[in-house]
Amino acid sequence: MDKLTLLLFVLVHWNATHIQVHLTAACTDIFRPLTGLYDYCYWMITTFQNSTDSSKLCAKDGGTLAWVNSAEAQAFVEKTFTGTLTAGSMFYIGVQDPVSEEYYTYTGERQYYFNWDAVYSPITDWHCVMINYDSFKWREVKCLFPKLALCSKTILREYLSSYFDRVLVGKALTGYEASVLENLSFIRCAFACQMNVRCKSINHDVTSRRCTINSETAETYPSNVAIAPTVSYYTVFI
Ligand SMILES: *[C@@H]1O[C@H](CO)[C@@H](O)[C@H](O)[C@H]1NC(C)=O
Ligand SMILES: *[C@@H]1O[C@H](CO)[C@@H](O)[C@H](O)[C@H]1NC(C)=O
Repeated sequence: MDKLTLLLFVLVHWNATHIQVHLTAACTDIFRPLTGLYDYCYWMITTFQNSTDSSKLCAKDGGTLAWVNSAEAQAFVEKTFTGTLTAGSMFYIGVQDPVSEEYYTYTGERQYYFNWDAVYSPITDWHCVMINYDSFKWREVKCLFPKLALCSKTILREYLSSYFDRVLVGKALTGYEASVLENLSFIRCAFACQMNVRCKSINHDVTSRRCTINSETAETYPSNVAIAPTVSYYTVFI
């Protein structure tokens, strides 16, 4: 190699490394769910450590143990990590029931989605959840066992978060439906709201994709807010 070629070689590779580090940080892939104000970046930690240390390793790159709170997210994890680990691997995800048998995500949401193994039965003093790589089914586990770990971090969808400012996950406003639209993605539901002068909030059901345009808000009518596990509620930012 002459000096110029060498310089180019170094520059190209330095740039490639630099861009990669800058853009993708630790993301193996980015999950863009059909609903919500966030995308999610996922990556695997392939060393063995207990859940506390796993969670610290995720935090080092700005994440938490992974958010897997929908069938859509579970399918993304299966697709992304199939073929990447050795048979028999097990990894922590961000689901815990620290107090009772009520589960929470590491981002503080109530956990509504589960993918338990058939052999699962809740054990009172086992508070962590791991995925068995061979089947991608979940099991409860003692938090002190050394396992691999799946991390994720949220990426705010700026264009949506400047339109909606308050979100209630797993809840819906009832009694103020101005219009109900079937089978809409979250983005289309958001546009439908923007086009409707009466729209002050929406409910979006991620399973059925039903979009409800509401003429009122949960803040004005808190007693009309109902639990609806597959739905998220969004107030229009005014
Ligand atoms: C995990 O291990 C660390 C030491 O590496 C220890 O401080 C921590 O208490 C352990 N956590 C659990 C849940 O066992
Ligand atoms: C919902 O819409 C998608 C395309 O946006 C379409 O492929 C699908 O068949 C529709 N489902 C129903 C139940 O209408």
